[in-house]
Amino acid sequence: MTSQVLREARKYEEAAEKSIPGEERPIFHLASRAGWMNDPNGFCYYKGQYHLFYQYYPYEPKWGPMHWGHAVSGDLLHWNYLPAALAPDEAYDRDGCFSGSAAALADGRMLLMYTGVVKEHQDDGSYQEVQTQCVAVGDGVDFEKYKGNPALDEKSLPEGSSRFDFRDPKIWKNADGTYSCVVGNRPADGSGQILLYHSEDGFQWKFGGVLAANGNRFGKMWECPDFFELDGTWVLLTSPQDMLPEGLEYHNGNGTLCLLGDYDEASGVFNEKHNQAIDYGIDFYAPQTTLTPDGRRVMVGWMQNWDTCNMHYPKGPWLGQMSLPRELSVKGGRLYQNPVRELERMRRNKAGYENVPVTGLLELEQVKGRSIDMEIRIRPGSPQEMYQKFEVRLAQDHQYHTSIIFQPKESILKIDRKFSGSRRAIIHQRRSLVHDKGGELKLRIILDRFSMEVFVNDGEQALSATIYTKQEAEGIQFLAEGDVNMDVVKYDLCAFE
Ligand code: FRU
Repeated sequence: MTSQVLREARKYEEAAEKSIPGEERPIFHLASRAGWMNDPNGFCYYKGQYHLFYQYYPYEPKWGPMHWGHAVSGDLLHWNYLPAALAPDEAYDRDGCFSGSAAALADGRMLLMYTGVVKEHQDDGSYQEVQTQCVAVGDGVDFEKYKGNPALDEKSLPEGSSRFDFRDPKIWKNADGTYSCVVGNRPADGSGQILLYHSEDGFQWKFGGVLAANGNRFGKMWECPDFFELDGTWVLLTSPQDMLPEGLEYHNGNGTLCLLGDYDEASGVFNEKHNQAIDYGIDFYAPQTTLTPDGRRVMVGWMQNWDTCNMHYPKGPWLGQMSLPRELSVKGGRLYQNPVRELERMRRNKAGYENVPVTGLLELEQVKGRSIDMEIRIRPGSPQEMYQKFEVRLAQDHQYHTSIIFQPKESILKIDRKFSGSRRAIIHQRRSLVHDKGGELKLRIILDRFSMEVFVNDGEQALSATIYTKQEAEGIQFLAEGDVNMDVVKYDLCAFE
């Protein structure tokens, strides 16, 4: 039975979607159908299509009582909206259906696992959100919440763990047909930990141990975990709150963290070996992955930043878009990410240039556009002298531009969206250490109407940022201090009709 709250949301979003012209949305990034979007949820391949749900408040472009929005796609790039899947309409989730995930059940139904939130009055007069894990089952469009909800509550927590910070279950099916999930939680030390649970049927869950503990190293509470094996390594993704910067690896505030290591499934022990940020740009959080039918591990993140999303300019009818789905791999103890290969099918109008000398400012006749896939390789133009700086300016006209700047001496790549239409004193720049080889660097740049994503050296690093520059600013310029030699291949990215 669809509740009144869900019916209203579905009716509202259908009408609201019609009032948003297609040109005011990204071309191939999923944005909120109406109002507000944050984390990707329930990302899965089910009965021939990809399903991507998301944290959703349809009524305004700002965070509110969380629903689950829903979209499907055949290729991870062309998305169609489906009716909202979950609404806060039960006693155990009346203040929000927070983040979670999906899995197929043995009988073919889709299982959603999410965090139910209820505000609880405290003795000091304040309210705290009690968080439990809940499940719902359905046919991929309509879902029924389980009568036995919540499936996991404070009774399933280890000693000293907070029932107020216990959220974002990521479920997966094991080879023997049982299910496991990881959930973010806050232990007594005030930082974060990832808890592991197991279930025979997806409904009855048992505590399996603490999979990983922050010990106050990387920020505080760890949100939105994901855990999987890839290329012989176990990968734990999480999004820590309240981080302190560490060199150029981690930045202040909400960030992303990837732990790589070994995992002994029998004992449930994860042995961490390497850590790194997941995305080094400005707007990327709470990523979630799924497996494609051909065995690729694909990740989608919320392409926004909690510290700046309530100050966006200009104010539009929607806020929040997903990153490009990215294929993951692990090489040499590092997580690599590249745009899904399906993107190549959207390429049109190839323009290619080889061994172009860049000294000062350069524009190339056929290189411009706001929906593009561009690969650039640079190298020193003179054997005697290293260049000082190389810059690409995108979404450019006489007033605007968004820059990617490389300084070979320091091996620092900087993105700068200061001139991208923002009228707020928010973060506009971020720097990252990259691995150039004597001034040689490879960049793949994906632009959609409201975003830029940069993939460095075949996916060794990714940097994402939203931009709000008017669409007419579509110039691309190359600038060098010193002599650079460059190859460029650029395509327009066009949606299929
Ligand atoms: C992360 C997060 C999750 C939570 C959701 C609420 O961005 O804070 O931990 O489930 O957003 O919308």
